[in-house]
Amino acid sequence: MTACTSVVGLQWGDEAKGKIVDLLTPDHDLVVRYNGGPNAGHTVVCDGQSFKLSLIPTGILRPNVQAVVANGVVVYPPKFLEEGAGLRAKGIKVGNNLILSDQAHVIFPYHLEEESLREKAQGQSIGTTGRGIGPCYQEKVGRHLAIRVGELLDPDHLRRRLREIVPIKNRLLRGLSAETRSFDADSLSEEYAALGQQLRPHVADTVRLLHEAYARGRRILFEGAQGTLLDVDHGTFPFVTSSSSSTTGIWSGSGFPARRLTRIVGVIKAYSTRVGQGPFPTELHDAVGEHIRQTGKEYGTVTGRPRRCGWFDAVAVRHAVMVSGADELAIMLLDVLSDLDEIRICTAYQYEGCRTEHFPPFAHQLERCKPIYETLPGWKCDISGCRSLEQLPAAARTYLERIQTLLGLPIRIVSIGPDREQTIFC
Ligand code: IMP
Repeated sequence: MTACTSVVGLQWGDEAKGKIVDLLTPDHDLVVRYNGGPNAGHTVVCDGQSFKLSLIPTGILRPNVQAVVANGVVVYPPKFLEEGAGLRAKGIKVGNNLILSDQAHVIFPYHLEEESLREKAQGQSIGTTGRGIGPCYQEKVGRHLAIRVGELLDPDHLRRRLREIVPIKNRLLRGLSAETRSFDADSLSEEYAALGQQLRPHVADTVRLLHEAYARGRRILFEGAQGTLLDVDHGTFPFVTSSSSSTTGIWSGSGFPARRLTRIVGVIKAYSTRVGQGPFPTELHDAVGEHIRQTGKEYGTVTGRPRRCGWFDAVAVRHAVMVSGADELAIMLLDVLSDLDEIRICTAYQYEGCRTEHFPPFAHQLERCKPIYETLPGWKCDISGCRSLEQLPAAARTYLERIQTLLGLPIRIVSIGPDREQTIFC
C-alpha cells in the first residue's frame, strides 16, 4: 500500500510538528498543507540553519519533494511570495516544486482590518494571530464575498468581483467602527492581479495533482497546522481557529480521501502550551510555568507572544487522539523538563464536585474543571545527547511509559532538542 501519512498536533498547536514533518519527508514525495494559513508557524532547524515557515509546507526544504498548498488553506499572497523569496535567498529551490491550489481562498487587507476591529469591538476576544484567518474563512462559508486564487489570474474578472465586494466590505467595516480604513476596489484589483501574475507559475488544480500522484504510487504526507484542540468543530470552541485543524480537515481541505491514510502520527509536547485566550486547566502561573517558557523558548513563531505554559493534560489529549484517529505518538521537547524536581500529569478533572475523564464540549465548562494530578519524579540531568531509549534516565522512561498508558498509544519518536539528530526512534 502506498504510504500516506498525516502529522497532526494533538494539543493547541505549536507542538513542533515542523520537525516531525521534516524527519518523515524523506519517505514521501509530496508534502501537503490542507488547513489554516499564515497563522501557522513551523520552525525547522537543519544543518545549523533555522527556517521559519508559515504558509509554505516544510517539505520545500528537501530536494525532489513537491510542496503543495491545497484548497483548504487561506492564502495571503504577499506573505506567500515573501516566504518563497526568503527561502530562495537561503539557497532553497522554490519553483515548480511549490504548488498552490487554484481553489484556495484569498486573504485581502480588508480581512485583516475586519479582524482587528472585531477583536477590539467584541466583548469576547479570541486572541487571534491577527492574520485575517477568521474573516477569510467566514467569506468562504458565506460564499457571496469570497475570492479564490484562480480568480486572481483573470484581471477583468477580478476587477468586476472586487467592484461588487469592496463597497459591501467598506459598509460592513464602517458598521464595526467609524475609525476604519476604507478600501478602493480598483487599486486592490491592480495590486492583486499583479500578485496573481507572480503566483501563476505555482497555481494548479491540486485535487487532480494529488490523485494523479497517488495513482503513480507517490507517497503523500499531510502536514497539519495548529492542533486538534484548536479545530473549529472539535476544539475548545469558540477559542479555536476557523479551520479543521484535526485530521478531519484532510478530506475537505485537499480533496484526498482520508481513508487512504496509512499512518497518523499525533504530535504532543511533553507539557502543554497555548497562545491567545481560552480555557487551559493545567496552566501554571508560577515559577515552574516561567521556567518552561524560558527553557522551551515558548514565544509565538508568528506573533512573538509569550505562550501560556502548563503540565501535560492527558484528558485533553485523549480527546484529540480520538478525534484525529492518531495511531502513534511523537513526543517533543522532553528535554525542556530536565531541570524539574517533579513533573505532573493531569489524568482527570474535578468538575462540579465529580471526577471525570471526559473533555467537556463547552469552554465555560472546561473553565471550571480543576486538574487532578499524578506526580512523577524528575530526572534532573541533561538528556539532549541521548540517542536511544536506553540512554534516557529511568525517570524519563517512566514519564514516557505513563503517557503511553494514559493515551493508549505507542510513542514512536522522542525529541530531545531542535536538531534532526536530537531524536530517538522507538
Ligand atoms: P486565528 O487562527 O488567527 O484565528 O487564531 C485563533 C486562535 O488559534 C488563537 O488563540 C491563536 O493564538 C490560535 N492559533 C492560530 N494559529 C496557531 C498556531 O499555529 N499555533 C498556535 N496557536 C495558533
